[in-house]
Amino acid sequence: MTAGLELHGPQKLYEQWEHEQWNPFAIDLAADREQWQAMNAADRALVLWALSSLMVAEERITTQFAALIMAAESEEEATFLATQQVDEARHMQHYARFQGEVIADHQAIATHVARSREQLGDPFGVIFDQALVEAHRRLAEDPSDRAAKVAFVTTYHLVIESTLGLTAFEFIIRYLGRERLLPGFAEGYTKIHHDEQRHIAYGVGYLRTAVADDAASADTVRATLRRLLPAVAAALAPPGAGGTDFEALGATSDEIRDFALGGLTRRLNIVGVPLETLV
Ligand SMILES: [Fe+2]
Ligand SMILES: [Fe+2]
Repeated sequence: MTAGLELHGPQKLYEQWEHEQWNPFAIDLAADREQWQAMNAADRALVLWALSSLMVAEERITTQFAALIMAAESEEEATFLATQQVDEARHMQHYARFQGEVIADHQAIATHVARSREQLGDPFGVIFDQALVEAHRRLAEDPSDRAAKVAFVTTYHLVIESTLGLTAFEFIIRYLGRERLLPGFAEGYTKIHHDEQRHIAYGVGYLRTAVADDAASADTVRATLRRLLPAVAAALAPPGAGGTDFEALGATSDEIRDFALGGLTRRLNIVGVPLETLV
């Protein structure tokens, strides 16, 4: 490992986690409730789509994670991954609380997830119900399978958390800030974003080490990305947006795609599998 990576290795990331705790139930949602009631139908539909994506995504990545803890190769990695599982459950709780106290009423998380799913298009299912579930099942079957672990971390940390997650955060938080909407939601989402930086640092660090150790890992990263990137591009557009040019949350499809692709390009360079080697 290089000195730079050690700085962001699992032990350091775990120590950061200990200093960065937060409580989703301590966030004040009173202003959010008032705003939600007063919002016009068009704004509400747009915000509901964004919040529904986050609710479903966070449920999936909470419940499709445990195999990676079983695949840990050191005590430090197991410790960090245990904190990531807590983080994802906390994120899911923030979104479920928001659904229960602002959008609908108090229900089991599964009920909020089922209602949220009605807002989402098919590409979401390809990523979260097919690719992620399959990558997790394969790793759970044999946690010592290096290719299965690389494919899972590529799917989870590189595609879902980095490419989809950071892009969603950028444009949703930009929209809510500009419109001065849902301050409690945005406060929790910003803390979630901070947690995600640790998760992504782990994922990129893990993949970089795996690729440096063995050339087959680079092929696994490439094959996983080739399979998933079309669905990622489609998932960034609201359902019914039509075609490849659209506007979402006040941003153009070009802005959204440039942001997503720029981040992925930077991370793939760190991993050692430049984007241009995919084609
Ligand atoms: Fe999360
Ligand atoms: Fe995460």
